[in-house]
Amino acid sequence: MKIGRIRITKFQARIFSWWELNKRDLPWRHTHDPYKILVSEVMLQQTQVSRVLPKYEEFLYFFPDVYTLAKASLAKLLKVWRGMGYNRRALYLKKAAQTVVDTYNGEFPENEKELVTLPGLGIYTARAILVFAYSRDIAAVDTNIRRIITHFFFNDVPQKEKIIQEVADKLVPMDESWEWHQALMDFGAAHNSLFSIHNSKINKKKIPFQKTNRYYRGRLIDILREGPVDEHILVKVFSASIINGLLKDGLVERKKGMLRLPD
Ligand code: ADE
Repeated sequence: MKIGRIRITKFQARIFSWWELNKRDLPWRHTHDPYKILVSEVMLQQTQVSRVLPKYEEFLYFFPDVYTLAKASLAKLLKVWRGMGYNRRALYLKKAAQTVVDTYNGEFPENEKELVTLPGLGIYTARAILVFAYSRDIAAVDTNIRRIITHFFFNDVPQKEKIIQEVADKLVPMDESWEWHQALMDFGAAHNSLFSIHNSKINKKKIPFQKTNRYYRGRLIDILREGPVDEHILVKVFSASIINGLLKDGLVERKKGMLRLPD
């Protein structure tokens, strides 16, 4: 899609002038450490800022750097992660830390190609690291930013990812990529309900099964945090697919007929 220079400049000015009055002070905005940025980004996936805030501090207290996380026990990791849900994210974070330590000598790669090979990192997260840690002039498009672009440039009509990315690329102001993305995040969060009402795709997306699945996975892990439990007892409450899913993901292990969290 063609967008004129003037329209781009006007849009940037609009977002930045809103942001001047409405910017949030968030702890991950005080660092350029790619490890801390990654932790914040993974936590912020599917979880609200208000819930991430205390957890982010707690997590970094126990795992202050990539080396500590790489060698952390899964039991400790899941204990600290408690209350966040989507435990698989914690597992991926640890695996990513292990890869950074083992493959990259503890230094995060500074390019998208290598970053996306880290466990759990998609294009968005890889680019978010490049933007927030290294202030690179590229566009990272998450759900909020996609909604903003869909709203302002496509009248709320959903577009292909590639089209959104093209517009996002054009909108990044030179040398202000860090500020631009933080501003869009805040703008998106403040106007979230406004955009999503119009976005029919988002409203239809909720799948009850997934919610149930996630709920039971979380409850089973909560139980195993207290210690190993006989599988015969657990199968009375949890379906085989929940148990097998957790075993397959490595979040739970089976030893002598007992299910437990791995060390
Ligand atoms: N969601 C993802 N990244 C974020 C950030 N840096 N600030 C606020 N919300 C976010």
